[in-house]
Order: sequence, then structure tokens, then C-alpha cells
Amino acid sequence: MTPAFGRPIRKLWGLADDATLLNHGSFGACPLEVLKAQDILRREMEYQPDVFFRDKILPQPGGTALRTAIGHLATFVKATGDNLAFVENASVGIQAVLRSLAFSPGDRILITNHTYNAMRLMVETRCAETGAEPLVVQIPLPVNRDDILSRFREALTPNVKLAIIDHITSPTALIFPLEEIIALLRQNGARVLVDGAHGVGQIPLDVPKLGADWYVSNAHKWLFAPKGSAFLYASPTAARETQPNLISHFVHMGFPWSFDYIGTRDNTAWLATPAALKFFQDLGPDDVRTYQKRLIATGSDLLSAIGAAPVGPATMSAAMRSFILPQTRPAAADEGPALMRRLWTDEHIQIAANTLDGKLVIRISAQVYVTQDDLRHFAATLDRIGWPGRA
Ligand SMILES: Cc1ncc(COP(=O)(O)O)c(C=O)c1O
Repeated sequence: MTPAFGRPIRKLWGLADDATLLNHGSFGACPLEVLKAQDILRREMEYQPDVFFRDKILPQPGGTALRTAIGHLATFVKATGDNLAFVENASVGIQAVLRSLAFSPGDRILITNHTYNAMRLMVETRCAETGAEPLVVQIPLPVNRDDILSRFREALTPNVKLAIIDHITSPTALIFPLEEIIALLRQNGARVLVDGAHGVGQIPLDVPKLGADWYVSNAHKWLFAPKGSAFLYASPTAARETQPNLISHFVHMGFPWSFDYIGTRDNTAWLATPAALKFFQDLGPDDVRTYQKRLIATGSDLLSAIGAAPVGPATMSAAMRSFILPQTRPAAADEGPALMRRLWTDEHIQIAANTLDGKLVIRISAQVYVTQDDLRHFAATLDRIGWPGRA
């Protein structure tokens, strides 16, 4: 029987016992039984490597264990296996899309000021290579759904060739109104890549229905897969032009098979992803989300009581929420990371913290191993130690 959420269930992970862990969002946390499934696969790989790679990984007419594994994930996100490829992480998937499209001077690649830093750098690099230019939609804090849509409407120009839109933003943990944004971008003729790094597992997904060209998501965050498991979805049209970052034996087979084998590597995180999916489904996705919602509501009350202000309405958050810590002056760039480090080093509390839009922004994650006491402890500690320039 599955232990109750909170302290009892934490024994299913090998997490640091004496720590308050409120940052599942950054790197996920893989349960012991999923790691065990991965370990069995690793042993099988090293028992007879030829058989393992030739039967399970290398594309072949009869199908492979890798294709079966992605098929389970595809069903979960309401897509088909032919439109899904495993990639190591969201970064790899996004880089592949950026490299698959030709850009020229005059083209623009749209992101927002909430875009994950690595993706912004990828876009800047691709622009420098091709003569295209980034177009950054500024979304000031705090924000609501209508503000976001009007910011997109105002910023859009006709020459946006590709837009990279977060499903759930990283620093601000906001669920963007994706369907409306995608409709807007489509009317404008832009191709759309959704950075759903935090999507799968955190919120229910029907990926094809969203209508994007590409959708990338990390199974190693909210679906409990081992590190290095993510997927790249490409719509039937987009699939025809999507190439992996590395060209290898099966490039001529096209998407998704060209992604399955790009040299010898450890594919066991992908093969163990169905075990993670089973773990998640056994917990009961509805129960998980109800528990997480309750934690986020408690965390919001506790943090509001010490002066922190949510970056957006509760309806725009799921298992993570971000808050502005009020200051008497604009936040310096390093204040978020410094606060995060201090909380870990001195207090053994892990959260995420950043500076955005001149504001000090903290983010909490509510995974099933988190308790109401963890949140109380965090809010009380933050109140005690304070933050730079506290207003
Ligand atoms: C919105 C967003 N995109 C992309 C990433 C990158 O994920 P990965 O490091 O697995 O590539 C993250 C990581 O937290 C993220 O929050």
C-alpha cells in the first residue's frame, strides 16, 4: 500500500532526511523504485551490450523497447509514438528545434523575459549565427492572464518566425494561457515551440490539442523519471523538418527514429520512464494534484502573512508558486541566488530564488513528500532571517 502523502511517503525517495526540500521544480527527485528499475536495465546493458543495443535501441522494423517506452509516454500526453522522441532534457529538445529551422536577417525569434536563461542564450546564439533577432516580450510583475495576452498582442511583429513559449514559467511558476497565445501566434504566421519543461506530471496534458508545432517536457521533473528523460513532440508537419542535434546512422529515417540512436549512450533513463509513469499513476494523479494544491494554498497564506506577494493569481499556478519579496529598492541580480544559498547553507531549506523585473522572486514547489510543517518552518525562518532591503 502507498504510504500517506507528506512525511510517511518520503521514505519512497532517498532524499536528505534532515532537510526542508521545497524545490522539486529545478531538478525533480527520482523515487527509489524507479532508480531500481533503471539499475536493472543498466545491468542488462552491461551483461550483453550487443544484444541490449541491437534489440532495444537501434531502430528496426519490428520496433524496439525504446519505441515501446515512448509509446507509453505518448499515450499519457494523448499523442502517438510517431510524434514523440526521447531527448535528454528540455535544453536538448529546444536546441534541436532551433537548429532545424533556417533563419535569415529580418526574422525574429520570440521569447519573454520569463524565459529560462539557457533558452534565452540559445536563441541569442542562433540569432548571432543567422542574422535573425530575438524579440523579447516584457511581462512585468505582478501579472494576470489578461496582462499576459495584451503584452503578447502589443509586442508581436509580422516577422516572428518562431516563438518559444513557456507552458509553466521557471522563475515565476506561472501557467501561461497557452491556447490563446498559440492562437495569436498562429494568426501572425509564427511557428510555435512550447517549453513545457515543468508540464508533464504537474498538469494534465493533451499535447496535440494545444496546436503547437513542437512541445518539449522533462519527465525527470514532475513525472519522477530518472535524470535525463524528456520528450520532444513534433506535429506531423513539424516532424518532417525536425532533426536531432547530432547526425548519426538513422538520420535518413527522419523524426522520431533519427533521435533514437545518436551514438552509444546510456538510454536507461528513457527505458525506465514507464516505471516512473506507473509510480505516478499508482499515486493517483488527481490525489497528487489535490494535495499539491492544498500545500500551495497554505504556503501562499503563510508567505503572504510575512509580506510576500504572489506574482500572479492562484488560478495560474499548480504545484509551484512564486512570490515577490518586497524591498525598499530594486533587487540586485545576485540577491535571489544569494538568498537561496543562505537558506540552504545556514538553515537546510531548499527553495528557488531569482531576480526578475527588478524584483526578488522566490519559488516554492509542493511535491507529495512536502508537509504543511515544512512550509510553516520555511515561512517562519524567512521571517526570522529576512531578505536584503526588506520593506
Ligand atoms: C522553463 C524551463 N525550461 C527549460 C528548463 C531546462 O531543463 P533541463 O535542464 O532539464 O534542460 C528548465 C529547468 O528548470 C525550465 O524551468
